[in-house]
Formats: sequence, structure tokens, C-alpha cells
Amino acid sequence: MSGPPPGAYLYSQLIYTPPYPTKKYTGRVVIITGANVGLGLETARHFVRLDAAKVILAVRNLEKGAAAKESILRSEKKTEDVVEVWKLDLSSFQSVKDFAKKAQNLKRMDILVENAGIVRHFSEYFPPFDTIFEVLKQSVGWDCGFTPQSYSRDKFIT
Ligand SMILES: NC(=O)c1ccc[n+]([C@@H]2O[C@H](COP(=O)([O-])OP(=O)(O)OC[C@H]3O[C@@H](n4cnc5c(N)ncnc54)[C@H](OP(=O)(O)O)[C@@H]3O)[C@@H](O)[C@H]2O)c1
Repeated sequence: MSGPPPGAYLYSQLIYTPPYPTKKYTGRVVIITGANVGLGLETARHFVRLDAAKVILAVRNLEKGAAAKESILRSEKKTEDVVEVWKLDLSSFQSVKDFAKKAQNLKRMDILVENAGIVRHFSEYFPPFDTIFEVLKQSVGWDCGFTPQSYSRDKFIT
């Protein structure tokens, strides 16, 4: 049988402490998606602490992004220009295209942390499921024919 040994999850959550990052990112330009909260915010804070030249918080809500920026600048005591807040809603293809266009103007881009995401139980994918298919349709032209009306939770959950 493969997979982690029994107790590995509890060990990793309760006992193991990951090493504190110390490697410098001097001069690097970093983009982090979903950086206004949670793991993305703390990742951004580390990159700023570790001397990155620019850390871009890619967020879908600019107000939340501004609050995150303020929090980072307060804790890391860096100048304001080190952290930028850019709009990115990954469920909108137009927003992704606008973001990519803006990113092309960067003099350099060293690291992209694709952190934004959601964890849902299977039963919670309704109705956002149709959003996923709409994004696929708009971005790669794949139309699987799903509409919110064409399926129901009852088909999947018994
Ligand atoms: N925390 C864990 O134990 C754990 C374990 C395994 C994997 N992960 C993964 O690690 C990542 C971060 O986890 P977390 O716990 O820090 O999550 P979190 O606190 O829920 O933060 C998720 C971030 O993603 C953003 N986001 C969600 N949908 C978005 C969209 N359509 N466009 C742009 N941004 C969007 C959220 O923005 P808003 O604030 O605007 O909603 C938020 O900034 C996720 O991908 C998660 O699946 C986490």
C-alpha cells in the first residue's frame, strides 16, 4: 500500500515546524496570486522581508489588496514602492488577459506563486461548477454543453 504513513498528517500539522526561510531575493520581482489573505499574504510578507525588489499582490478585490499591502509594509518596514496591488480575478478570462498585458510592461519577472484557489467539498461545486465551464469555454473554446440547467446535484449525489 502506498501513501503517507499513518499519523503523518497530525505530525506535519502539530509537531513539525518547517524551516524559516532565510534565502535572500534581492532584486527579484515576484507575483503572488490571492495574496490578500492566508498563505498568499504570508508568502508575500516573506518575499518582502527577504529583500525582493518588487512584490505584486494579485488580488480580485483591490480594497482587500490595499489592506494586505498596508499590513506587509507595517510589519516589514519597507518603502511603499516595494509592494504593488494588481487586479486579477481568475474566474474572468478578460481579467487574466488584462493582468498579463500589464505584466508585459515589467522590466523583469522572476517568480510567480500561483496560490489563489479554493478548497471545496464535491457537493459545494454547485452552482460554481458552471463558472468553471464558462472559463474553459472563453479561454480554450471548449464547450462541453453544460449549463446550470443541464445538470442537477441529484445526478451526482445520491
Ligand atoms: N490552507 C491549507 O491548509 C491548504 C491546504 C492545501 C492547499 N491549500 C491551497 O493553498 C492556497 C491558499 O490557501 P489559503 O488557505 O491561504 O486560502 P484562502 O485563505 O482561502 O485564500 C485564497 C486566496 O485566493 C483568492 N481567490 C480565490 N478565488 C479567486 C479568483 N477567482 N481570482 C483571484 N483570486 C482568488 C482569495 O481571494 P478573496 O480573499 O478575494 O476571496 C484569497 O486571496 C489555495 O489554493 C488552497 O487550495 C491550502
